[in-house]
Amino acid sequence: MEKKLNIFRERARELDRQDPLRRFRKRFLIPRGVIYLDGNSLGLLSRDAEAGLQKALRSWRDLGIGGWLEADPPWFYLAETLGAQCAGLVGAAADEVVMSGTTTGNIHALGATFYRPAGRRTRIVADELDFPTDIYALKSLIRLRGLDPAEHLILVPSRDGRTLDEKEIAGHFNETVAMAFLPSVLYRSGQLLDLEFLTRRAHESGVVAGFDCSHSVGAVPHEFDRWNVDFALWCSYKYLNGGPGATAFLYVNRAHFERGPALAGWFGSVKERQFDMSLDFEPARNAGGWQISSPSILSSAPLLGSLAILREAGIAAVRKKSLQMTRFLIEMTDELLAPEPYGFSVGTPREESRRGGHVALVHPEGWRISEALRARGVIPDFRPSDIIRIAPVALYNTHTELWTLVRHLREIVDARDYERFPTERKPIS
Ligand SMILES: Cc1ncc(COP(=O)(O)O)c(C=O)c1O
Repeated sequence: MEKKLNIFRERARELDRQDPLRRFRKRFLIPRGVIYLDGNSLGLLSRDAEAGLQKALRSWRDLGIGGWLEADPPWFYLAETLGAQCAGLVGAAADEVVMSGTTTGNIHALGATFYRPAGRRTRIVADELDFPTDIYALKSLIRLRGLDPAEHLILVPSRDGRTLDEKEIAGHFNETVAMAFLPSVLYRSGQLLDLEFLTRRAHESGVVAGFDCSHSVGAVPHEFDRWNVDFALWCSYKYLNGGPGATAFLYVNRAHFERGPALAGWFGSVKERQFDMSLDFEPARNAGGWQISSPSILSSAPLLGSLAILREAGIAAVRKKSLQMTRFLIEMTDELLAPEPYGFSVGTPREESRRGGHVALVHPEGWRISEALRARGVIPDFRPSDIIRIAPVALYNTHTELWTLVRHLREIVDARDYERFPTERKPIS
């Protein structure tokens, strides 16, 4: 076993030496002495993001209200500016993406627009492995239409409790379904769904297709326009490294610009006439029309830096390294962590086309083991009942860090180190 461990260490070093994205790690402020593997919950601060925020603070200090037009870039256009910068990451035109609000808020805003139950077509298709907030929002959208979620929300079941079968999901698309709203990557297992297939099958049945891409944007390339996705939304605090509670993004396919937003707010106005202060709302005929309120400048400014890094690295190179790292971790898990007494298994699909940016390590003592890791300065996260999520982020993690993680996991089990930790979970895990 020791020999195998050493062989993997040599491979890790070699992969790091050959890593074309190596130079980006220095641009991040990695907490001292920490191996940070939780970028799928909260991405790390970069020097570039910090500079973006500092610049916004200086503009506020020096310009006051003048910052709306005179800051660089002007705050009044910041949502559109950052939307255009994010569009390349998702295969969209610049005016189909805008930075706005929050993930859940955007589910409400876009759901209210695209979920239009009529006649027999009244149902929404989602799945039972969805992130809870998505389901809460969908249920409330159904109730707002005077309908009962018990009847009108279809939660496609998972056969193994971890993954979904796209064909089975598509099997639910029919003339009783108005909208499908699904995740791109499942937050626990890390399965990447085939959005192109799901969109095509939805459209064949007359169903509108929308996606929560919080767990994929910044780690996986998307082709929203080519796939003809109707709408999508995603957060910016995970792989976009925008900071805790950073402003989110939304995408509306240009085919739907004329619909206009169901939930109106003055920042969705045609920009040239927003300050005419008319009581008749005139929405911008682009994704910007779906904004509701003044953009939160201080929660958006870090994105000026963090999106620039991603664009510089290129999403294809990011995906390539991310897959290489998750593949390496899966291989090490099979060889070094699966055999007794370790007992870990991989809960993430092994096919690259079905894998997002993180790996789910499954272990019955997952919670206490994740606590033991944290005590050693290795930061994963835990999702009940038994998943330790490990997200090696292409821009700032290394293969050697993954090797070190595996070494810690073996030591933790060898020494039964996890038994020192309470079984009760903390409010945030
Ligand atoms: C898939 C998904 N959707 C939504 C959210 C959270 O939504 P909000 O940004 O509105 O808090 C998360 C948070 O981790 C998530 O993983």
